[in-house]
This record gives sequence, structure tokens and C-alpha cells, in this order.
Amino acid sequence: MVSEKDKTRLRELAVKAAEQAYAPYSKFRVGAALLLEDGSVVTGCNVENCSYRLTSCAEQGAIARAVAERGPGIRVHAVAVANLNETASMPCGACRQTLSEFGGDGMVVLYPGEGGAMSETTLGELLPHAFRAEYLR
Ligand code: THU
Repeated sequence: MVSEKDKTRLRELAVKAAEQAYAPYSKFRVGAALLLEDGSVVTGCNVENCSYRLTSCAEQGAIARAVAERGPGIRVHAVAVANLNETASMPCGACRQTLSEFGGDGMVVLYPGEGGAMSETTLGELLPHAFRAEYLR
């Protein structure tokens, strides 16, 4: 269960992370805040590259940072994504797959909906039939 208080905090931290974004090309600054199993929060922002294709999304940056800081056993309970353009947006397909590596279908995903409202869904809704590690066994 993710409390309303946690959701509000996650969203605020995602906005703060977006303020650090390096997005000189798209001007679309994104932040992501992960709520981990132990209650801690790790954030990330998008980092673009002049080659364009080497751009790293906010969610990917947050996951990389969480693993680097907390180790390979992290589990993500919820993620909030924010952008500073005041547009509705959802995590891209690649980020959905990246998130699914570290959380289940029930992971809460908070994203900016229409009119600036915080909208909520689950990873299972966003990425049904994800590619899973067990396929490799
Ligand atoms: N972006 C993210 O950070 N996360 C997403 O889920 C979608 C897109 C970034 C990548 C790029 O720097 C900018 O948004 C425009 O696509």
C-alpha cells in the first residue's frame, strides 16, 4: 500500500528531480522518484546527448542510481514521474520494461495527467505481458 502522503511526496520529489534535468534538445525536463521497499526514495532525471539516441530517461536514471546506491536487490513499490512542461505524459515503453525488472505488476505509477492532476495506474496496466527474467531460465 502506498499512502496518499507518500504519493504527494513522491510527486514533489519527481518535480524537484526534473529541475536538474539535462534536456537542451527536447526542452522536456523529466524527473522520476522511486519509492523502494524499505521506504526510501531515489530520484533521477533525463540526461540527453547531442547524438540523440544516447539519451537516458528519468526513470532509467533513477533505477541506475538506486542500484548503484542500494545494490541489486532493490524492489520498487511506486514511481512518480513529472515533467516541467505541464503536459500530460506517461513513461515510455523502454522505461516500463526497465521498471518491470525491479517491481511487479502492482507497482504504482503516478504520472501527470490532463490539467496537471496527478494520475495513477499500475505497471501491470502499462506493460501487460512484459518480457520476464524467467524466460531466460
Ligand atoms: N523522457 C523521459 O525521461 N522519460 C520518459 O518516460 C519519456 C521521455 C525524456 C527523454 C527525452 O530526454 C525527453 O523526455 C523527450 O523525449
